[in-house]
Amino acid sequence: MGHGKLRKFAENETFSCLIQPDASSVLVKDGSKALVLRDHPIKGHWIGQVFSSPGPIVLELGCGKGDYTIALAERHPEMNFIGVDIKGARLWKGAKYATERGLKNVAFLRTRIEFIGAFFGPDEVSRIWLTFSDPQLKSENARLTSPLFLERYRAFLAPGGLVCLKTDSRFLYEYTQAVVRANSLPLLASSTDIYAPQAMTTPDRRSATPPSLTAGPLPLTRPRVATGPEWSQPEGPVTATTDWAEVTGVQTFYESMFLKMGLSITYMEFTLEHEGPFVHPTDFDSDYWRKAEGPRRTFSHNPTKL
Ligand SMILES: C[S@@+](CC[C@H](N)C(=O)[O-])C[C@H]1O[C@@H](n2cnc3c(N)ncnc32)[C@H](O)[C@@H]1O
Repeated sequence: MGHGKLRKFAENETFSCLIQPDASSVLVKDGSKALVLRDHPIKGHWIGQVFSSPGPIVLELGCGKGDYTIALAERHPEMNFIGVDIKGARLWKGAKYATERGLKNVAFLRTRIEFIGAFFGPDEVSRIWLTFSDPQLKSENARLTSPLFLERYRAFLAPGGLVCLKTDSRFLYEYTQAVVRANSLPLLASSTDIYAPQAMTTPDRRSATPPSLTAGPLPLTRPRVATGPEWSQPEGPVTATTDWAEVTGVQTFYESMFLKMGLSITYMEFTLEHEGPFVHPTDFDSDYWRKAEGPRRTFSHNPTKL
């Protein structure tokens, strides 16, 4: 490991806004020696133990360097923000900034998102941001909007709480649309290109039937426009609950790189109002959307570690 990383890890230990639990503190072996999740002491106690203000708690899952978490926290001092990521060297940047600026409404949690249920109690979180999550083209259960993950979020998301997905990945966007459809979740806003002049803020069912493959793959640079009768836009009032200027006014580290590459940025927000277990979508054409996605984009300075 390089000196830079070691220095960051050492400094991380000094940041009171950064919580870094050992995996062993939330994973234990049960009677049959299977690993099971157990609650972390912070669960249900973020207000009081970490935040002094009783404002709503907003999570950013896979926050990387924490730019978005920080920017939202600076805009909303009346709310509390927690960035979650597994990579300590990335979290260092956000934690250092929050420490130096004395931001009292920001915290970072270093953990695998798979363990998130160990850290938050019922109704403890008001909103979840998923920003430029890995689309996990091969493994559905690893996608942060899969039924498996939604089940985890439901355990701590307050009634009416939002899941907000911002991504360059059309594959992940369309997959998530399919999950929303399959579970009849209230879709409050969506757009396939939030920086287009007429970005949509009404429910968007355009992806109900993907265009046929013979039409050729969708262009991956803007404008990303599909045509065909099945892509017509539904009627309906604007119901987005997120301030649209906030969606477009704050960019994450990866977002700014994707924008420089000319890629469209998609967005959707939905709630988890649903009785019974979440089901997998049956109408998602993963082969089609995998092809439309093309090779996964990488960056020269960090080609493998998306
Ligand atoms: C593509 S980066 C996006 C970072 C940031 N949201 C942005 O837009 O700049 C994805 C981030 O998710 C984190 N991540 C991916 N899977 C994770 C998991 N299962 N648990 C915790 N973090 C994860 C990675 O460490 C990485 O920092």
